[in-house]
Amino acid sequence: MDRHIGILTAGGDSPGLNAAIRAIGKTALDTGHMEVVGFKDGFRGLMENRIMRLERSTLSSILTLGGTILGTSRDKPHKMPVGGELMDMSEVICDNYFRHNLDALVCIGGGGTQKNAYRLAQRGLNILTLPKTIDNDVYGTDVTFGFDTAMEIATEAIDRLHSTAHSHHRIIVVEVMGHNAGWLALGAGLASGADVILIPEIPYDHEKVARAIRHRQQRGNNFSIVVVAEGALSIDEKKKRDKLRTKKLKAKENGDLKKKQASEAYARFSKNRAEHTLRLSQHLEEMTGLESRLTILGHLQRGGTPSATDRVLATKLGSACVKYVEEGLSNVMIAVRGDGTEPVSLADVIGKRKVVPLDHCWLESARNVGTCLGD
Ligand code: F6P
Repeated sequence: MDRHIGILTAGGDSPGLNAAIRAIGKTALDTGHMEVVGFKDGFRGLMENRIMRLERSTLSSILTLGGTILGTSRDKPHKMPVGGELMDMSEVICDNYFRHNLDALVCIGGGGTQKNAYRLAQRGLNILTLPKTIDNDVYGTDVTFGFDTAMEIATEAIDRLHSTAHSHHRIIVVEVMGHNAGWLALGAGLASGADVILIPEIPYDHEKVARAIRHRQQRGNNFSIVVVAEGALSIDEKKKRDKLRTKKLKAKENGDLKKKQASEAYARFSKNRAEHTLRLSQHLEEMTGLESRLTILGHLQRGGTPSATDRVLATKLGSACVKYVEEGLSNVMIAVRGDGTEPVSLADVIGKRKVVPLDHCWLESARNVGTCLGD
């Protein structure tokens, strides 16, 4: 074996991770001169040197499995919880990379993972990344794997909520994942014919949402389905959030003594997403006279077997990644571009997020079929 590849999965799990691990492993082993080692639980396993040899037997029968056989975590190399403190463990991680004689490390993850991987690349490691997240918000790629499966799951759930909302003449507010980008809410909302879709990119007006529901009532439809991304905010909430964010950034810039308070206040606001959605459900009940119920789909959206589309996508990215390793490429994310793949410099990916553009055709279609977007 003259080449060694390491793999880790980091951030929230996402359907298709095992398909990607399998594709990297099988493509590498098929070359006859590559060996593959997996690190458990994201960057933490690389730091603690907890490994899993990825041999043919390990890679067999995992294509259809949800989650990741390697495990995952949100731990960051430069802020790793160790003994109750956050420590910079980047050096230990680099030592372990060299200890395993790695020629490349493939980090599979979302936006946060791309950033952490880039930091390691800056320390001299050969890094390649694959974009995965059910949020579909990684910059520089047409799409991420995991998104299609989550959209299917959310759509099926909303379809089911439709009949109960209809029978009870209720509003059902359905919260789907996506704290910064509305792809999942918009896609599942469009696919399930939601009456209202609220996404983080478009701050909503309670009155406009209530008006859309009342309008349906006037036409004899005494129920409505409101799909809300977990990060969607009303116009007032957004103003409050922006104020807290500015305060936090200013305090940080000035090295202000109130830095901790400001960042805690911002974190508290951001954490209370479920409260925002609950408040919306209550407001709509008061404003329309219809009973309202809240359903939070939560982690259901990330679990279980990947869709055929995600399996194909993850397999395509995983096998292309090994080809790029063979070509000696590093410090790139393997992006999806049309039907193919394209290596994109990690430096161009990090610090950005792919949100729903306000002129996106999905938004236009939603408006065309009479969906209220809260604006
Ligand atoms: O990985 C993305 C995501 O699923 C987001 O949609 C969601 O806000 C977040 O992860 C939830 O994170 P956790 O699983 O750590 O609660």
